[in-house]
Amino acid sequence: MSKLRLGVLASGRGSNLQAIIDNIAAGKLDAEAAVVISDKPNAFALERARNHGVPAVHIKPADYRGKEEYEKAVTDCLRENRAELVVLAGYMRIVGDVLLGEYPNRIMNIHPALLPSFPGAHGQRDAVEYGVRYSGCTVHFVDGGMDTGPIILQEVVPVLQEDDEDSLAARILKEEHKVYSRAIQLFAEGKLKVAGRKVIIS
Ligand code: GRF
Repeated sequence: MSKLRLGVLASGRGSNLQAIIDNIAAGKLDAEAAVVISDKPNAFALERARNHGVPAVHIKPADYRGKEEYEKAVTDCLRENRAELVVLAGYMRIVGDVLLGEYPNRIMNIHPALLPSFPGAHGQRDAVEYGVRYSGCTVHFVDGGMDTGPIILQEVVPVLQEDDEDSLAARILKEEHKVYSRAIQLFAEGKLKVAGRKVIIS
């Protein structure tokens, strides 16, 4: 059977992308990185992709007349590379209607907090400042909101009294690198069904 083809969108260092590539190589994830697309020319994620022979494409938002046109270019690129599941890995943009329309319930994101707590760009810092005893990470399908889509898997990590944003982020990241591949594997096996707000795992 052919492997699930992943289209990865990333804006930064790409450690989640790396974990996915490594898990594929280790036989823990039955998928294939089909293309990595970044909105940032210098994203280290692009370099990681090239290092592994994965097509790496920079698509510059400023080259397009708005979000819709930009997302059409992204969608074209995903289609050209026959991506079946879109994986957001540190992609710092809200996904719009064009991408959502093309890949309904086929876009995943990972967020470094236990949603619906602490959405947004500073999940780890917000958790430390709030004083919660536990935080973690959430893999979810993407909808039109910010970190609001149906939840697939979550992993819990303790927040220690001496933690700062960085130490908590590092503890969470270790779990991100495992749980994201597990969620993608479930998708690859056809085991995820979205029913309203909920994801049913068979
Ligand atoms: C991760 O913390 C992820 O949860 C969040 O953005 C960060 C991306 O890190 N969405 P990396 O680029 O995968 O290293």
